[in-house]
Amino acid sequence: MPAAPVACWQSASAAGREESMTVVTQPVSRGSAAGAEAAYGPGAKWFHWITVTLILIAMPVGFVIQHLKDDHKMPFYAVHESAGVTIFLVALARLAWRLRHPAPPLPEHVPRPLQRLATGVHHALYLLLIVQPILGFVATNAWGFPLRGQTAYLGLIDLPKFMETNERLAGAVQAAHNTVAWVMLALLVLHVAGAIYHQAIRRDGLLLRMV
Ligand code: HEM
Ligand code: HEM
Repeated sequence: MPAAPVACWQSASAAGREESMTVVTQPVSRGSAAGAEAAYGPGAKWFHWITVTLILIAMPVGFVIQHLKDDHKMPFYAVHESAGVTIFLVALARLAWRLRHPAPPLPEHVPRPLQRLATGVHHALYLLLIVQPILGFVATNAWGFPLRGQTAYLGLIDLPKFMETNERLAGAVQAAHNTVAWVMLALLVLHVAGAIYHQAIRRDGLLLRMV
């Protein structure tokens, strides 16, 4: 006789929630991918992996710029800044979408402190996906190099210049941008280490919630 389906998420029928997750109604046995029982929906997955791609462009390019000769820097600024502004727009859309599509709760077998750590890292990443591009945008404007001409958004759209050059402010905001870059990198290392830990050591299939 087939085993009864596992009711993973009792409130799955609540408005909006159905779209944000996929409930797999298969029995969970020892050694199965227990963590994958309530997965993120396709919308959450698209937002997540588009963001990952953009971060993989913006972050390494940002770190490389300072090591380049001045006359080689411009295309790198253009790529970095356009990717960064896109991250900002995607993050705004993602947060608006996420407010109406809550994340599926972590499975009970994940210890409470780890659940709190994972959720804290997610919230911090959301915050920095908004704050970091704003710092970068303000710094470029304060340096007197707004996103126009060679560094227009996506090479096409001149963004408004909203302030006069102010090198003191630029230096401070740039320092904050550079510091946040390292904080973000540390959070991402923690986040990816968590995903690898679940996949390779606990083998609870948690990664499958997001793929
Ligand atoms: C989430 C988005 C972003 C990330 C992750 C990011 C990351 C970084 C990183 C890692 C650096 C190098 C830090 C260092 O040298 O220690 C950097 C530098 C910089 N970023 Fe961003 N950035 C983002 C968005 C932006 C945006 C939207 C702009 C401008 C519109 C911008 C403008 C700059 C500038 C001007 C620098 C200095 C580059 C240099 O001259 O060395 N960034 N960013
Ligand atoms: C590089 C940039 C990345 C960013 C900014 C990022 C950000 C996030 C955020 C904000 C969430 C929470 C989603 C929500 O609850 O709405 C999340 C979930 C998740 N991420 Fe990432 N992530 C990144 C890279 C990765 C990578 C490389 C992996 C895999 C190796 C990964 C695996 C996951 C998984 C499995 C979840 C779901 C966790 C759960 O089951 O609750 N992420 N990510």
